[in-house]
Amino acid sequence: MLTEEKVLGILHSIEDPFLHKTLEETGGVEEIKIKEEKNHVSVKILIGKTNTAEQMELQQKIVNALKSGGAATVGLRFDQLPDEVIQQFQPEAEGAEASLLGGNTGTKFISIASGKGGVGKSTVTVNLAVALTRLGKKVGIIDADIYGFSVPDMMGVEERPVVRGEKIIPVERFGVKVVSMGFFVEDNSPIIWRGPMLGKMLTSFFKEVEWGDLDYLLLDLPPGTGDVALDVHSMLPSSKEIIVTTPHPTAAFVAARAGQMALKTEHEILGVVENMAYFESKETGNKEFIFGRGGGVKLAETLKTGVLGHIPLQQPYEEEDVFAPSVYQSDHPIGKVYRNMAAKVIDKY
Ligand SMILES: Nc1ncnc2c1ncn2[C@@H]1O[C@H](COP(=O)(O)OP(=O)(O)OP(=O)(O)O)[C@@H](O)[C@H]1O
Ligand SMILES: [Mg+2]
Repeated sequence: MLTEEKVLGILHSIEDPFLHKTLEETGGVEEIKIKEEKNHVSVKILIGKTNTAEQMELQQKIVNALKSGGAATVGLRFDQLPDEVIQQFQPEAEGAEASLLGGNTGTKFISIASGKGGVGKSTVTVNLAVALTRLGKKVGIIDADIYGFSVPDMMGVEERPVVRGEKIIPVERFGVKVVSMGFFVEDNSPIIWRGPMLGKMLTSFFKEVEWGDLDYLLLDLPPGTGDVALDVHSMLPSSKEIIVTTPHPTAAFVAARAGQMALKTEHEILGVVENMAYFESKETGNKEFIFGRGGGVKLAETLKTGVLGHIPLQQPYEEEDVFAPSVYQSDHPIGKVYRNMAAKVIDKY
């Protein structure tokens, strides 16, 4: 025969699947009722998040534990713990992001990801950042591709950041604040990173950089679903993502993997950018779909999101006095595509 005390003993050792603390620590056992004549135990449990697969598992666990303890039947109800309790046990989530930027909580993070290399992630990051700035937003870029950094070259940044006190002051170009591994490397020599260094480097990009007041911080991720992408996912629980692909169906397939990873780590996908969508002839105005067609739409369908923009193939105008090889001017056709994309992003996030 189970007593209330015994039931409590059993429940107290079980862990909340979200807060990773025992129900004793979270105070998650709200109610215990025992019907002696039928040997029926009914309990009400409070947990960090309800109606999830984890709750189903926990349910099994509790029912089994109580039955092994001697209950003939078990009734179980779940509800969510009060917010204060959840926050108390989950300081890493929101708090971590705030502390990453020194208490600057208003900043929205956008990670730019892709399944494979060379599809235009960095180009999209740089131009979206510039376009957001043109629409009056305060924007920063972290070139998180710490092996294959390219943002400084693309924007034509030649100066290096200065250090003031303990902080690195990011370089500003077209109003965008930029930090890149490229700033800390002598004469373009390659860097060999060991696993744990990667995460550390990224953390210092947040913590040791004086970002000031930012509306958006864009992260140019390395291609694929490797360590850095994972680090970013766990470090920035509320970052949203943009997935870049070319229009070829196979490219979209590979990109879907990056998208799935975002979804698995509960990062909302802001949308898909289809880059190198087509080439438009200057003479005839004809569009040629050099790299295939439909990849962006297909990827967006797979990831249950929308297409933020289709960017054709074209270089920025060459300018004599401004050197920024990958930044499209505001009056350039592609500059206008980026402006529309930036407006959509502001609208959504
Ligand atoms: N729409 C475009 N029209 C013409 N050239 C483009 C376009 N988008 C990107 N490029 C060029 O394609 C190359 C690859 O782009 P980018 O470096 O942005 O890709 P990436 O996905 O960041 O690559 P990596 O995986 O190496 O980081 C660059 O030389 C870039 O200038
Ligand atoms: Mg890149």
